[in-house]
Amino acid sequence: MRKVITYGTFDLLHYGHINLLKRAKEQGDYLIVALSTDEFNRGKGKECYFSYEERRKLLEAIRYVDLVIPETCWEQKISDVQEFKVDVFVMGDDWQGKFDFLQDLCQVVYLPRTPEISTTQIKKDLEK
Ligand code: CTP
Repeated sequence: MRKVITYGTFDLLHYGHINLLKRAKEQGDYLIVALSTDEFNRGKGKECYFSYEERRKLLEAIRYVDLVIPETCWEQKISDVQEFKVDVFVMGDDWQGKFDFLQDLCQVVYLPRTPEISTTQIKKDLEK
């Protein structure tokens, strides 16, 4: 079984997220999503519209997602890859090159982002 992991906030779930999750799952057989907790996001200066629990339930309802775990800090990636015996680490290409240090442990893949959609953009458009 080829295990894939990806990380993110996935607030106000949109088709860019679904595209990413679908392509991440295609990299293997089992997809783990490490979902940023509300505390971790606040530390990054990000305030989510949906709580961690709400975001978790939305992700768990997606057919491509097999397991959701909390992302609580930047440093957990190495131990997650080891603990869950991950074969492929996937991120959108807004993170291109940032996680190449994991290449000693697993394959690292950056997928092209879906153009013209983001949670930030949705929030801005709704404010208009
Ligand atoms: N993603 C993507 N295409 C988009 C938006 C997001 O492929 N149009 C990917 C990101 O590259 C990341 C994952 O989806 O791997 C989760 O991204 P996240 O930051 O939660 O979503 P954004 O919409 O980019 O949110 P924000 O605007 O808050 O940064």
